[in-house]
Formats: sequence, C-alpha cells, structure tokens
Amino acid sequence: MKQTCKNVYITTPIYYVNDVAHIGHAYTTIIADMLARYSRLTGSKTFFLTGTDEHGQKISQSAEQRGKTPKEYADEVSGKFKTLWDDFDITYDKFIRTTDEEHKLGVQKAFETMYKKGDIYKGDYEGYYCVSCETFFTEKQLIDEQFCPDCGKPTNIVKEESFFFKLSAYEDRLIKWYEENDDCILPRAKKNEIVNFVKGGLRDLSISRTSFDWGVKLPESMNEPKHVMYVWLDALMNYITALGYGKDNENMDFWPATSHLVGKDILRFHAIYWPAFLMSLDLPLPKHIAAHGWWTRDGEKMSKSKGNVVDPKEIADAYGLDAFRYFMLREVPFGQDGDFSQKALMDRINSDLGNDLGNLLNRISGMSGKYFDFKVTSKDVEKFHRKELDEVEAILDNIEEYLYNMQINRYLEDIWKVLTIANKAIGDYEPWAKMKDGKEDEAMALVALITNIMARISFLLESVMPEKIGKIAQSIGLEINTDTYTKILKNKELLEDITITKVEQLFPRIEEVLLEQAKPTDVSKSEAEKKSESKKVVEEPDNLITIDKFFETTLKIGTIVEAEEVPKSKKLLKLQVDVGEDKNRQILAGIKEFYNAADLVGTQACVVANLKPAKLMGMLSEGMLMAAKDENGLSLIRPESPKKSGTKIS
Ligand code: MSP
Repeated sequence: MKQTCKNVYITTPIYYVNDVAHIGHAYTTIIADMLARYSRLTGSKTFFLTGTDEHGQKISQSAEQRGKTPKEYADEVSGKFKTLWDDFDITYDKFIRTTDEEHKLGVQKAFETMYKKGDIYKGDYEGYYCVSCETFFTEKQLIDEQFCPDCGKPTNIVKEESFFFKLSAYEDRLIKWYEENDDCILPRAKKNEIVNFVKGGLRDLSISRTSFDWGVKLPESMNEPKHVMYVWLDALMNYITALGYGKDNENMDFWPATSHLVGKDILRFHAIYWPAFLMSLDLPLPKHIAAHGWWTRDGEKMSKSKGNVVDPKEIADAYGLDAFRYFMLREVPFGQDGDFSQKALMDRINSDLGNDLGNLLNRISGMSGKYFDFKVTSKDVEKFHRKELDEVEAILDNIEEYLYNMQINRYLEDIWKVLTIANKAIGDYEPWAKMKDGKEDEAMALVALITNIMARISFLLESVMPEKIGKIAQSIGLEINTDTYTKILKNKELLEDITITKVEQLFPRIEEVLLEQAKPTDVSKSEAEKKSESKKVVEEPDNLITIDKFFETTLKIGTIVEAEEVPKSKKLLKLQVDVGEDKNRQILAGIKEFYNAADLVGTQACVVANLKPAKLMGMLSEGMLMAAKDENGLSLIRPESPKKSGTKIS
C-alpha cells in the first residue's frame, strides 16, 4: 500500500454469486477495508472497490439447479453480499456487478482493443475445463487423468471454436516486470511460484466460449454472436471498468491499482493473465498483488457439504464486529493459512483486547478520576517519561512499513508492544505511591503519558476497530482525523489539556464460547436441494440391500507383494497383490499421500476382487483396496491377524 502515489486504489476479488459470503470472503474484505480506512486517514485520496462476479458456466448451472434465471439468481446473491458488507460497515466506494451494463461495455471495449492490437485470434480449443474453478487445463495437468489439480473435482472435456489471447507473447515482458518490481507480488515467497510458472512456458489462453451463453457477448464489430467471453477475462476487467474504462474514464486517475487483494488460489489469474491483458491494453500495471492464505475451521477445510462453513455475520453478531475484525487481521500472518475457532477468537478478545487494551483505558479513567477529577495535562510528560516516549516512538516510526508490505499481523504485534510499554509503566512508576508521597506532578505525568500513548495507537487501530476505537477516542477527548493524525502521530505532538470521560467496559470477558455449534451456512442451497436432503433421511430404509446383493461383491484378503509410486501421479501407488490366484493382481490405489510404498510390502488389506478391470493413467488396475478416511487421514482396512492370501471375507 505504498503511499508514494497520491491516489490509493484498493480492490477485493469480485465474489462469485454461487455461494453466500463466508469467512474467507469476509477476510479479504476486512483487510481491504482496513487499508482503505487507514489510507483515507493519512490523507490519501482513496478508492475501494468490491463487488460480485456473476457470469460463467458455474453461475449458470447453479441458477438452473435452483430453477431460476442466472440474472434472478445473481441479483439475489449479489444483494446478500452487499447487505452483508453494509451491515459490516465496509467503506467501499463502489460495489461493481459484472452484469452492470457499463461493465459489459468496458469489457467489450477492452476485447476490441486487444483484438485490434493483434493479440486475439480465432482457433479451436480442445482440452479440459473445471467449471468449479472456471479454468482450462491440459491433460498433463490433471490428477489421475480427470480431476482438477486445484479443487480435485472432475473436469469436462471441451472442444469448441474459441478466440485466444496471445499470452505466450507476453512471457518475457512478464518476467521482466516481476524482476524489476520486487514487491509486485506479496508475500514475496508467492512471487517465486509465479515466476517459475511463467518460466515454464505460457500457452495462449482461450478467452471465449460457445457452449453456453451466460456471459458478456463479444463486441458487435466482431460479428460473432455465438461467443461469450471467458469469465476470467470479464471478471478481471472489473478493476478498470469500475473506474470508467470504456465509458468516461471518470476515475481512471486511480489507476494503476495500489493493491489487488486476492486469495492464493486466484493469484495466477491476477499475477499472469491480468498484467498481460493490461500490457496489451497499454495500461500501467498494478503496484501490488497481495495473496492471502486460506481459512480452515477447527482444523478442517470448510465446505458446504460438511456444513462447517463459518458464517461471518453469525460470528460478528455473537462476538462483536470489531473483535472479529481484529481477530482476522491479527491471528494469521498474511499469506499463510489460518484456522478459525471460537476458542482462538475468545482468547484474543480476553487477552489482547480485554486485558491489554480495554483495561488500559479503564486504568486511565480510574486513575484520572480518582486523583485528578478526570482532568490531566501533558506538561510534565517529557520531563519524567522521555524514555518511554522514545521507546514508543522507535516502534511507531517504522510501523507503517508493515502495512506497505501487507504484514498486518506484525503491524498489530507492534501496537501491542506499545501497549505493553504503557501497562508496564504503570507498574514501574506506581502512581498511587507517588500520590501518597505527595508527588502529584509525577503521578499526573504518568497518567498523561498513558493517555498520550493511547491516543497514538488510536490512530493506528481505528481502521481495525472503528467502533471501539471511536469510543476510546471519545473517552480521552481525541478527534480522529487527518489533521490530528499528522499532529499527534506524525509530528509527535502531545495532547493538550485532557478531559477523560468514563466509558462502559469495551471488551467484557467471555468465559465460554458463545455459539454452541455455529450453524452451517446452507442458505445458498436451493429449496429443492434441502427437500431432497430431508427426503433422503425419511427414505433411508429404501437403501437397504439383501444379503445376496451384498455377496455380489467378492471381498478377499490380499497380501501386498510389491509396491511402487506411479510417476507424475500425486495419489497413485502401483501394487502387486496376492489374492490366492495363480497370478498376482495389479492394483492402482489412491493412497500415496498416506502410505510409503516400501512400508506396504508384506502387509495385508481387504480387496474388492470382482471389480471390472479399469485403466488409470494408462495402467491396468484389477481390483480395489478397502480403506476408510476421516479428518485424521486414511487407513487401509486389514485383518486383525494375518490370514492366508485369498481368504474370502464374509
Ligand atoms: N470470482 C473469482 C474472483 C474474480 S476477481 C477478478 C473468485 N471468486 S470466489 O468467490 O470464489 O472467491 C473469492 C475469494 O475468496 C478468493 O480470493 C478466494 O481465495 C477467497 N476464499 C474462498 N475460500 C476461502 C477460504 N476458506 N479462506 C480464505 N479465502 C478464501 O475466485
């Protein structure tokens, strides 16, 4: 978020409308909101963009499953995102929807410009497509010949006429950009992955589809009514169409973006495709593309099917929005994955917010009230506390650097170091003892020191916890605006006469988690889906089978006699298994992540022995090993004590 450029432009990804907002969406949006608020406080002209991504096959399929038109469905879910951000007091300057007419015109203009430049050509696409990730893959990239390497879902074969963007022509320029701009991708560790990917060679990108129509049409001048734009081309353009690109360029002085905040899963689109499109459009490139990690819940990946998706509204309603914001920003180093648990949130509230911050305010108000009728001055602070002021300033002088590098957790850690200095000073100087000894001036200097420290950190924390810090500021008679920020935080002036007002306890202690078990976020499920689920429970007896049916499956004890890894497969091991026949069976088992090939040799497992042989990665598999998998991993099902190879299981 370098403040060297006068205008600051911060964006979140635009969220797909096939899902309601969850904690991951809230995370990016809260970071962006924090940065935008801070940037405004420092006096920078700031534009903060968020919105929804509404086209593409995924949305069109989700709408169809719910018996709605894609537009009806998009209106409904986009509305929910907007309402949530409004409830969360997110200070976006624009909420863009890719179904906005102006956006569509802007995307068409961009397509036309790239086409005229000679960067777009017509061809035929043949390959694999993951609808869930809206991404094309080659056969080589797939897992076990059919699964998406990013999300693991099955891919579809796509064979259709398509327009292509000459991505391969931008390889060298992209590499040069990465090399010349050290912090264009943050955290820097993520940048290496991108650089290596590009160095591995880029293929031209298919940027139009003909097999469905829920997307932006190609510009009329192309006369290609069958084609709609690839959803990622459409989506990425939102960052400029929101500023008036293709229309009146009204806010294009905010371009290039200061920070595009994205999750690690969509970094490649932002760090490769997007700069290449911008180069083709002759537009400057973003200053930073900052990729954060993923949130899990109680150690588990969140998913709708598990019903463990964290609903940010529910958490914020129970624990307080500001506490939730603080937790999200403080708990995890930017770029790393993080785990959400109510316990961790509760600990942060009780310890950091209650003990360190809230308590300090109580002490200011308690001491000033008891000894000085709530009125103190800073006149002796320098005389008695230059040492503490110096310590605080040494920390605060460098603190903004963390924001420029997206190290928000370290930014907060340093603010808490300052709080420690303040809390420690009270213990060291014991103002109550000074009062007893008649050293009122020293006691007042201490209370004033603490109040001044509180004022300084209030400027830094307001963007994190706007409501609570507003209360702190009110309590110490501080107005938070760009002028006072400059005077007090930048120029290090001390507060003049201070009048303290008492406030209620800001972060009351929480003894037990407040939500028994957070409700699964299943709001996005259609009524039809919900009905079919409850029906399943009622109709369960229909699933019962007879013993004869069970015995249609031949289960045998097998002894693994050889095991080796299948090259280029993340999951498969190739096993030779003795099931009591003349010849060993070759079985390809998807257990590589859980077992070492060598450790398996000589062990036994239960084998499904009458499965039709199948080919996996071009190799024959003549059976299946039985296994059970839960959140702790996968285990093969084995006999309790060794049995002869080929023994029937019944
Ligand atoms: N529509 C695209 C973005 C287009 S931007 C031009 C998209 N949308 S999304 O709704 O699927 O994801 C939006 C963001 O949410 C991504 O940055 C993604 O990383 C983030 N998250 C989704 N699940 C997440 C977690 N569990 N944790 C943290 N963020 C995660 O991708």
